[in-house]
Amino acid sequence: MPGNTSNPEWWRGAAIYQVYLRSFADGNGDGTGDLAGLRSRLPYLAKLGVDAIWLNPWYPSPMADGGYDVADYRGIEPVFGTLAEAEKLIEEAHELGIRTIIDVVPNHASDQHAWFQEALAAGPGSEARERFWFRPGVGDGPPNGWQSIFGGPAWTQVPDGEWYLHLFAPEQPDFNWNNPAVRQEFLDVLRFWFDRGVDGVRIDSAAVLVKDLDSVEESYTDHDGVHDIYREWRRVSDSYGGRILIGEVWLPDQERFANYLRPDELHTAFNFDFLSSAWEPAALRGSIDLTLATHVPIGAPATWVLSNHDVARPVTRYGRAITSWDNADRRDGMPSDLELGRRRARAAALLAMALPGSVYVYQGEELGLWEVEDIPEELIDDPMWERSGHTVRGRDGCRVPLPWSGTEPPFGYSTGEPWLPQPPQWRDLTVEAQEADPGSMLRLYRTALRLRRELLGDGTLTWLPYGDEVIAFRRDSGLVCLVNFGAEPVALPETGSVLLASGPVDGGLLPTDTAVWIMEAR
Ligand code: GLC
Repeated sequence: MPGNTSNPEWWRGAAIYQVYLRSFADGNGDGTGDLAGLRSRLPYLAKLGVDAIWLNPWYPSPMADGGYDVADYRGIEPVFGTLAEAEKLIEEAHELGIRTIIDVVPNHASDQHAWFQEALAAGPGSEARERFWFRPGVGDGPPNGWQSIFGGPAWTQVPDGEWYLHLFAPEQPDFNWNNPAVRQEFLDVLRFWFDRGVDGVRIDSAAVLVKDLDSVEESYTDHDGVHDIYREWRRVSDSYGGRILIGEVWLPDQERFANYLRPDELHTAFNFDFLSSAWEPAALRGSIDLTLATHVPIGAPATWVLSNHDVARPVTRYGRAITSWDNADRRDGMPSDLELGRRRARAAALLAMALPGSVYVYQGEELGLWEVEDIPEELIDDPMWERSGHTVRGRDGCRVPLPWSGTEPPFGYSTGEPWLPQPPQWRDLTVEAQEADPGSMLRLYRTALRLRRELLGDGTLTWLPYGDEVIAFRRDSGLVCLVNFGAEPVALPETGSVLLASGPVDGGLLPTDTAVWIMEAR
């Protein structure tokens, strides 16, 4: 295989591109992205210079939560294509030096999953119900007061009177991970996809599988028992010669977070602390220090994430006057200066890509897309909208289909009508327009990813003393990264050559909200 696909440790320094399949590229004109569309755009991803793609769930699904409600873990949603096409995608991506990572959703299934349908039919006390969390209610109400993460109660009653637990939407019943059949099933699912050439899995909601239902408070996050599950998964992935396990682990406590990365558990996990930091030097430096301090001692590489399909787009986030940790929150309607946000998002990209470890790029981040906040209410698809009683618009704003070419929607994304409308202003942000502009976000990402592959990746960093307003560090290759957060420009080092900058660095000065990569003179 070309590219770096022959390196077994590839994941330690990889650049991984997140494909939200529904919105990437539509090959059959029905308005929804699909495998045919993705396959036709693989050359784009190869040229961008990524080592792997991670696809959000592609399984048969009623799409109550964008595919995170899985009806069959061994198939492909017909709207996306077929299993044969998925196998072709994996093969074609490998030919271009790109690995494929898929999303596995172990906490919950779709209510249309055969096991849940069986459980409904089999009734109270049956073995089929043991695979989920069915309980009698208390009085007229649910078994306890737990609330769903999407809003509303975490329990729904079925016609025979029992209730079942769902941490997310009612269409997503939670599996009972105390049940050996559930454990066995997921080991088999892993093998099914590893047998088809998948290089790794991203584990959805990885920290919430084990529950203590007797607790009055919600008690499902980070129970110690969850680690036994991942030790079993690791034995399977190791038996395939090192397919990788990536956890979606939202935990503020970094010590607890690091437990998931012990040598016999997951390979990496998403760094949400960094993503959640406001655009402030102290917050970001603190997050980088904390991240490295927890990863280095256990020999796990850090990951750097600026966006995904659940959080507001960086251009919008960084254009807001936010000074707290929870920068990942959506804050619908909070004003954002998109020009400022764009400048900062460019600098943030160079910062994230210069740090030791692997980096994620969420589709459209490389185009500088902003959060679409004016999707008409009747088109909102995210279950958060309904579940919150129409108070939270949810995550659709970062899931709008990509603009590829042309001057008006659907911008080459589809020949039909996109499932979410694209802003007409994205005419300036199409891949085609940005290809032609050396100053574009796309060209910045492409150059940065190329240099990163040659000079960066995993390893260590050395902080450089540049004062409180500047983040400055050197990597072992001699690459120095400086990011200026202060109002005043700062002088660049007198020696060394500028390899790349996120904005103009005229006269040897680094302006505010700008990052630069410099190769030290040797
Ligand atoms: C994860 C996914 C999110 C999904 C949820 C429930 O947080 O990233 O999109 O809604 O899990 O599966």
